[in-house]
Amino acid sequence: MEESRIVTIFGGSGFIGRHLVKRLAQRGWGIRVAVRDPEAAQFLKPLGGTAQIVPRKVSVTNPAEVAEAVAGASAVVNLVGILYQRGARTFERIHVEGAATVAKAAAAAGAKRFVQMSAIGADPDSPAEYGRTKAAGEAAVQAAFPGASIVRPSVVFGPEDDFFNRFAVLARFLPALPVFDVSFQPVYVGDVADAIDAILEDPATAAKTYALGGPRVITFRELMQIVLRETGRERWLLPIPLAIAEIEALFLELLPVPPLTRDQVKLLSQDNVVDAGALTLADLGITATALEAIVPTYLQRFRPPTDQRRRLEEKKEAGR
Ligand SMILES: NC(=O)c1ccc[n+]([C@@H]2O[C@H](COP(=O)([O-])OP(=O)(O)OC[C@H]3O[C@@H](n4cnc5c(N)ncnc54)[C@H](OP(=O)(O)O)[C@@H]3O)[C@@H](O)[C@H]2O)c1
Repeated sequence: MEESRIVTIFGGSGFIGRHLVKRLAQRGWGIRVAVRDPEAAQFLKPLGGTAQIVPRKVSVTNPAEVAEAVAGASAVVNLVGILYQRGARTFERIHVEGAATVAKAAAAAGAKRFVQMSAIGADPDSPAEYGRTKAAGEAAVQAAFPGASIVRPSVVFGPEDDFFNRFAVLARFLPALPVFDVSFQPVYVGDVADAIDAILEDPATAAKTYALGGPRVITFRELMQIVLRETGRERWLLPIPLAIAEIEALFLELLPVPPLTRDQVKLLSQDNVVDAGALTLADLGITATALEAIVPTYLQRFRPPTDQRRRLEEKKEAGR
């Protein structure tokens, strides 16, 4: 008898989740998406072929809800993560306890495969609590589900990303964009989805950790230059020392959705790139997609109206 191919995806309504739902549905998986707001996740249905949205609220902090969502699943993917803490939504609760709850439930339900989404920078000694709790989440998952595979992306880009879109919006309103002395290895969301797909298809990937990065390491300054070029804006690039950024973050943290937190500033003190010797996209048979091939396609919408752009080009020409 053919084994069931049902995958429960936690965090399937997020940026990476929606691409993963689409990819795994194309590969013939029966998709079950567990979310806190099933109504708001209905948009996934046309993407996911036969995708089912668990009709009741599922939070990774609730073991009973999680157990119900994984019943009968042959594979489980946990994408749930947060960038800042609010009230009871702490890094410890979501990244560590939540991940452990999902992994324990998957093991108890007899799932064969488990993929845990972590991040480059996951390290018990990370200066940031985000990085420390991502590492503790990995350890909790491995203890509960020993064959779990872990994926650690650098910053992920794609049409709905939080990084390029955010700076493209800022470039509209601000006279300058900030520059931090740090490098990233941005990876395409489609490649991240392909990586999880490849892991689920190959039992030899069990208990392994993959660091996912794009084809090249790019400085923050160059990333801002790309944003300005692709959105057709001329803005200053303002280097910000981390000590100053930390003071700014103290105030920005008070906003309902903080654009920068002190913990994120701590993350910026270390390059976010694939370590030499790590297993990577290439080990999964995937050729990393260049940022230049994708980012212009979705930053175009931030360009100023054509006449404004023409004026800009004329100004540049006159200055040559
Ligand atoms: N994007 C990147 O550049 C990047 C880089 C490295 C690592 N990662 C990791 O990749 C994962 C996905 O990132 P993303 O960019 O797709 O994030 P995202 O768009 O914010 O998605 C996060 C998902 O988690 C769900 N979620 C949050 N709290 C939950 C809870 N208590 N119970 C159940 N679901 C909950 C959210 O659903 P709700 O609608 O219910 O909030 C959402 O579907 C995260 O673990 C993140 O740390 C992302």
